[in-house]
Amino acid sequence: MIPLATKAGPAPSPFSPEQQKRFDAGLEKAVAKYPRERRKAALIAALHLVQDELGWLPEPAMAYVGDLLEVPPVRVREVATFYTMYRLRPVGRHHIGVCNSISCWAMGSTSVLRRCEEKLGIRPGETTRDGQFSLEEVACLAACGGAPALLVNNFTYLEKVTAESLDQLLADLGSQPGKQMAPAGAGSTETER
Ligand code: FES
Repeated sequence: MIPLATKAGPAPSPFSPEQQKRFDAGLEKAVAKYPRERRKAALIAALHLVQDELGWLPEPAMAYVGDLLEVPPVRVREVATFYTMYRLRPVGRHHIGVCNSISCWAMGSTSVLRRCEEKLGIRPGETTRDGQFSLEEVACLAACGGAPALLVNNFTYLEKVTAESLDQLLADLGSQPGKQMAPAGAGSTETER
């Protein structure tokens, strides 16, 4: 939990040098959208940037973002816990989000989810024991024309999912055990947006 009392010194960065570069560049763009005195408004974007790099929002990372934007820890936590797109627990290296909204549901997303469960041996909200895969049901991914769709690590789409393409995806990801949460441009599968 983020300490609610004032602490000595700024929170340390949770990022590797490479992650730090991407985070800093993303934060600069996000902050630039607001007047200087309103930079706190970039909090939602900043938390997304953290999640893009780390896969979830560890407490030290929330503290770091709060310090950067001068947002009190309790406020950061309020935002992070209010929106369901933020993950407050670690996920697998390959986090698979299966869309369950109307178009995907009509085109068979239930079967896609069941197949993921069978192949991975986990249910939505769980992570495989080896930490390689986690599974989640998500709302519309804005890929309705390619329903049923899923998203890997927030960046890589697989659309018009079939049993065969899903098996291939899982096999491909399974052969990349060291792959980290992939920011845009570093993904491996079908469509990157
Ligand atoms: S309903 Fe699944 S992507 Fe829109």
